[in-house]
Amino acid sequence: MWKDIQPAPPDSILGLTEEFKKDPNPEKVNLGVGVYKDDQGNTPVLRCVKRAEKELLETQQTKSYLPISGDPAYASAVQRLVLGADSEVISSKRAVTIHAPGGTGALRVGADLIHLFNKEASVWVSSPTWANHNGIFAAAGFGIKQYGYYDPQSKGLDFDAMYNDLQKIPAGDVVVLHACCHNPSGVDLNVEQWQQVAELAAKAGWIPFLDFAYQGFGDGIDEDRFAVEVFAAAGIDCYVASSFSKNFGLYNERTGAMTVITPSAEEAVVALSHLKTVVRTNYSNPPAHGGFIASMILNSPELSAMWLEELAEMRNRIRDMRKSLVAGLAAQGVDGDFSFIERQRGMFSFSGWSDDVVSQLRKTKSIYIVGGGRINLAGLTTSNIDAVCAAVAEAMKQ
Ligand code: LMR
Repeated sequence: MWKDIQPAPPDSILGLTEEFKKDPNPEKVNLGVGVYKDDQGNTPVLRCVKRAEKELLETQQTKSYLPISGDPAYASAVQRLVLGADSEVISSKRAVTIHAPGGTGALRVGADLIHLFNKEASVWVSSPTWANHNGIFAAAGFGIKQYGYYDPQSKGLDFDAMYNDLQKIPAGDVVVLHACCHNPSGVDLNVEQWQQVAELAAKAGWIPFLDFAYQGFGDGIDEDRFAVEVFAAAGIDCYVASSFSKNFGLYNERTGAMTVITPSAEEAVVALSHLKTVVRTNYSNPPAHGGFIASMILNSPELSAMWLEELAEMRNRIRDMRKSLVAGLAAQGVDGDFSFIERQRGMFSFSGWSDDVVSQLRKTKSIYIVGGGRINLAGLTTSNIDAVCAAVAEAMKQ
């Protein structure tokens, strides 16, 4: 079967990690994949996760299947986290949440659900977006289109271009929005801009699909849910894909959630029934471990407090690295104003470095950056930042 078939290209992000692992250079630096690293370059298991795992090990009585939609305690903890504990959406029961295998799994379940009933819709993604958005929605059967977003001149948001494009999107099409910490650019909408976009969605009838993979990496858990709150308050259909890879550090436990918000409790019941069909025909029911850990933490005031502290540590370290990078590039005499790096939020920054610079950094210094120039700030440490800044200065002179 395979002899006349061309191999698929490596994944633009995870493929880079495979190359990085093979690189024998002891000074190598991975600024590619969106994985948090501490100042020692490790991706730690959070202390609150260790505590919850210990308790789980002692108390767990069975490894029997979870329900198709996952553990109900997890679903309600996720709703409180994503929507806010006092959300009207929760009290009126007009949202349903299922445990999905990671943020990617959540996006795919949501995409498959919409495709069941809306096969002709196009899915609109920001220009640029996380590369896998294109793959996920295309695999679910959708055509993909782009709306304006990033302005390479200002290194910020081109809100006029975005709004103009969103105005033209027909009812029933799906618009993928990054709820916070836009991947790859680190450029987000402000509060007023989110309000305008939510009003537009309600008026135009297109369906907002929020990718919420970085809750807590922008300004904090509560602050970062603003976009979700405005769409939820609009009383329209809305989809939210959560990932707990980054904020709980549960990368390899594939812990995420798909929340479907509908205008009424009756519609939410119908949505859940079809979500269950999508899951049952795909992976049957979710892997339990990560969801148990997240819900144990979210349901314990002590572990929650510990988690919020650890999350703040991660967020603040990344912010510090933004400052150090801007200062380090200036100290190396690199041409240009890099202050935009401090204004961008979350794990990533769109550096503006050309493909030549990116490939030279990799070839000569084993510094790995995703094509297009997205850098993961969490890959920088106080030990490697000087070398990275010097390498960038050298590459940009060529
Ligand atoms: C990233 O953008 O690097 C992360 O979300 C990891 C991934 O799956 O691509």
